[in-house]
Amino acid sequence: MSSVVAMTAIRGRFLDIKNTVAQAREIHDQVRYVEDGLLITKNGQIDYFGSWQAGQHLIGPDVKVEHYPEQLIVPGFIDTHIHFPQTEMIGAYGEQLLEWLNTYTFPTELQFKDAQYSKQIAQFFIQELLKNGTTTALVFATVHPESVNALFEAATAQNMRIIAGKVLMDRHAPENLCDTAQTGYEYSKTLIEKWHGKGRNLYAITPRFAPTSTQEQLSKAGQLKAEYPDVYVHTHLSENKNEIAWVKELFPEQNGYLDVYHHFGLTGSKSVFAHCVHLEQHEWQCMHDTDSAIAFCPTSNLFLGSGLFPLHTAWDKQVKVGLGSDVGAGTSFNQLQTLNEAYKVQQLQGNKLSAFEALYHATLGSAKALSLEDKLGNFNLGKEADFVVLDLNATALQRLRQSRAKNIEDALFALITMGDDRNIAATYVFGECVYRQSSAK
Ligand code: GUN
Ligand code: ZN
Repeated sequence: MSSVVAMTAIRGRFLDIKNTVAQAREIHDQVRYVEDGLLITKNGQIDYFGSWQAGQHLIGPDVKVEHYPEQLIVPGFIDTHIHFPQTEMIGAYGEQLLEWLNTYTFPTELQFKDAQYSKQIAQFFIQELLKNGTTTALVFATVHPESVNALFEAATAQNMRIIAGKVLMDRHAPENLCDTAQTGYEYSKTLIEKWHGKGRNLYAITPRFAPTSTQEQLSKAGQLKAEYPDVYVHTHLSENKNEIAWVKELFPEQNGYLDVYHHFGLTGSKSVFAHCVHLEQHEWQCMHDTDSAIAFCPTSNLFLGSGLFPLHTAWDKQVKVGLGSDVGAGTSFNQLQTLNEAYKVQQLQGNKLSAFEALYHATLGSAKALSLEDKLGNFNLGKEADFVVLDLNATALQRLRQSRAKNIEDALFALITMGDDRNIAATYVFGECVYRQSSAK
């Protein structure tokens, strides 16, 4: 029996980072820039990547080459922390974390009990990711299993690699947004069985944050992680000073905020902690020792006035960092905008974020934070073919600035500083074009 092979051939300018690194200064040596390149995908995976000259004979006779002579093609952006039910509440005015949750977030999330509503927003959310060149995300749903099903269904329709989970919350939130230690455990288990490893979907056990879970619930979450060691853990950590003080009051027997999660078996190489703006020394050590990862969410940290994430410390302490939009506390789905703010967060601390380091964080570095660097993050052979076609000249001002760019690094930096969804010409998932900007050439 012969099986049909789906082949795509893309010709254009390609830029990626070849290997993961232990230090930011090593990134420069891993940059791969192919000016006239060819990418061939077979059944969603990268089958050839290199120069057009060397690879053109490999293109099957019936395959039409998609040529992007002026654009720049990079690996699909990865968002390591985002809340799909908060899509509609971006830009909620005036509050910091704890007041923001009570005033805006919890009332918004209550709507997701309704499966139809969940479906409508999940579909909008997935389209918005693709429109912004984001091909993989680690996503908070709400406490309602309906919201998780809706998200995975919408992602599956696009063949996207999404990691998501049902929120666990059994206190300090409206009653209709709470589960119990037992029901949270049971619903999560059912969802793991249903979705984890089905197609490209992966599951994350998702306690919202320590203040909204009892010890009993965190203990059940740890039990679940022990039963399914391959699933992710996704939560928030050390975002806001009042939040940290509250955790210390609620869990006096633990040695600080991270120790609450660590105590219940929720740290590890597949655990992702959003924010980590105010970690203490011993907590950095625990993050390192357990190989846990951080989602750095600059637009959110600035919007909620949470603080400045010390990216240089994460490199020093050898802790994995991915980039997160954290919509709806974050103010953009777009990872170029997120990097633009990341640069400023580093500037305010007297540090530089180079264009290539920025690209690393949005692609291969985030893949590594999600333990998916063997599948995602660059154009290495055998990886899943998720990539973005970027138009560097989407506005008159961008065209003027790009015409003066000294080299590809400068061009990339200008793109990051000024870029947004207008620069996303097309998005490919698993070898297929799933979004094309109508005005794109
Ligand atoms: N901490 C607990 N819940 C949330 C949330 O929804 N957003 C952010 N930014 N922080 C949180
Ligand atoms: Zn968040």
